[in-house]
Amino acid sequence: MSATPTTPDARHADHPIEPLFLKRWSSRAMDGKPLSDAHTHSLFEAARWAPSTGNEQEWRFLYARPGTPHWETFLGLLMEGNRVWCKDAGLLCVIISHKFFARNNKPNPVYSFDAGSAFMSLALQGAAMDLVVHGMAGFEYDKARAALAIPETYAVEAMFAAGYPGDPTKLPEALAAREKPSSRRPISQSILEGPFAF
Ligand SMILES: Cc1cc2nc3c(=O)[nH]c(=O)nc-3n(C[C@H](O)[C@H](O)[C@H](O)COP(=O)(O)O)c2cc1C
Repeated sequence: MSATPTTPDARHADHPIEPLFLKRWSSRAMDGKPLSDAHTHSLFEAARWAPSTGNEQEWRFLYARPGTPHWETFLGLLMEGNRVWCKDAGLLCVIISHKFFARNNKPNPVYSFDAGSAFMSLALQGAAMDLVVHGMAGFEYDKARAALAIPETYAVEAMFAAGYPGDPTKLPEALAAREKPSSRRPISQSILEGPFAF
């Protein structure tokens, strides 16, 4: 294997955190092999245990793996800039979330927040298993709703690609150049003890 998305030394935390947070990053280089049932189930099992308001578990995951009848449908939802590397993904997924409380059908203000938590759990599990997991907003939301028969009571949140690490030199040049973990602004620019003053 010529590449790995797991480059723990490439990022440095300013304060002590678990190494897995730095290990996770959004690689695009995958080898085209379908994700195994075991890896697929572990990713979604991690998402299952995310926190949510009143344990609503608003998230739902619609997915396809290469070589199956739905693969081209999922690949066809993506913008060209994502399709070019996602053709080698081992799994493509559309994340949706239920917009109303199950108990009383009233609007739930945090369905997207909770779906995001579930994605992060899944992404960290992927990193722990040395898989690529890469979130995407670059797809056609309306097309996804129509092609996958998603009811209006569910929000189309995002897509992600998952797969086994591949050779980054096989990516288009511009993407190969971006194939390294990014950094972050310091927490001092994201937090305030007290009212808003950014
Ligand atoms: C909701 C969401 C949407 C994203 N959309 C895209 C996308 O369409 N295409 C892409 O290449 N990366 C996409 N990304 C990846 C981000 O660019 C990436 O997470 C960010 O630059 C931080 O880098 P890291 O994940 O490697 O730490 C998306 C990430 C998230 C969470």
